[in-house]
Amino acid sequence: MGLALFCCKNIIYSVANGILREYSFFCKKKPRDQKAEMKKEVIILGIESSCDDTSAAVIRNETILSNVIAGQAVHNAYGGVVPELASRAHQQNIVPVVSEAIKRAGIRKEDIDAIAFTRGPGLLGSLLVGTSFAKGLSLSLGVPMLEVNHLHAHVLANFLREPDEEVQHPSFPFLCLLVSGGNSQIILVRSHYDMKVIGQTIDDAAGEAFDKCAKVMGLGYPGGPIVNKLANEGNPKAFQFARPHVGGYDYSFSGLKTSFLYTLRDELALDPDFIEKNKADLCASLQHTVIDILMKKLRQAAKDHGIKEVAVAGGVSANTGLRDAFHDHARRYGWKVYIPKFAYTTDNAAMVAISGYYKYLQGDFCSIDAVPFSRITI
Ligand code: KG4
Repeated sequence: MGLALFCCKNIIYSVANGILREYSFFCKKKPRDQKAEMKKEVIILGIESSCDDTSAAVIRNETILSNVIAGQAVHNAYGGVVPELASRAHQQNIVPVVSEAIKRAGIRKEDIDAIAFTRGPGLLGSLLVGTSFAKGLSLSLGVPMLEVNHLHAHVLANFLREPDEEVQHPSFPFLCLLVSGGNSQIILVRSHYDMKVIGQTIDDAAGEAFDKCAKVMGLGYPGGPIVNKLANEGNPKAFQFARPHVGGYDYSFSGLKTSFLYTLRDELALDPDFIEKNKADLCASLQHTVIDILMKKLRQAAKDHGIKEVAVAGGVSANTGLRDAFHDHARRYGWKVYIPKFAYTTDNAAMVAISGYYKYLQGDFCSIDAVPFSRITI
């Protein structure tokens, strides 16, 4: 079974299962000089394909005009993302998702000033689809490309705004807790372009801890949202799990995962229905421990750096317990906290578009030769 995506003479071709499809992106514009034409209003198309969500968004400056996300149910049966299946699904989704984003934004494709795409980190096969598509469309429309670091994009999601919405942006410098399926980091953000990781996990990420513990309870994938839902009905103090002892602002979640596993093993030996009877309490205790570990280091970092502007980002920031902990810290420690809307916490292209927008303002375009990177740090 062959799958391919390529662009030739303003037409993007996709070949899937031996069927060739044509998508015309014909545009009369001549390719532009790769320099920013400084305009008051800049329209950026963002493309995100780093993992298992195909997403495209259109923004005008910092305002979201559309944000379309196609998830991939194909992974549910496997309890995790299967890279090869992810890249195939991206190939099927990318053209309709981009078309829909342009349609919902109420613009013409000729109005796009630049295309921002996720260059990494992520799954190479998935990144390749978004990168190749961005290249094809950039050539076809004659607009420049902006490469975006997926981790930067999660942080900069805190600067997005919806039409007619008055939002307060974090002021620099601020701290951002970036928590997702692959990362748990404390980032010192000095500007839109200048970020420094001051603490990170030495093993598993927070989202991974949620997902793996959910898997051993047979709760399905991704486990984070399921644990969150069940935790709302449970007692957070019902079970005690191991807490890490790592230096500085670094995190560790592998000990917690093992301790969770051993608790289940010991209790199941006494009662085979243990998980079923204690699901809510197990989830509440797990969530409580993860949040406690995250907030303790963040508190220390905020104190040491004398910073009271604190943001959160990444898929795990959708967790309602973590959001409550941020509001609680705002009350107790005088923090000003910034929490993106749910839609912009998990992978989405609006955050890619806004990261591209700040690069556009700097004239920081990338070459058509750009290749994706599976691993890059901030
Ligand atoms: O940022 P993201 O969409 O993808 C990357 O990892 O890049 O994050 C996905 C992670 C998964 O581990 C998922 O279980 C977790 O975010 N997650 C949650 C919640 N919603 C998503 N974890 C805890 N509570 C949630 N409500």
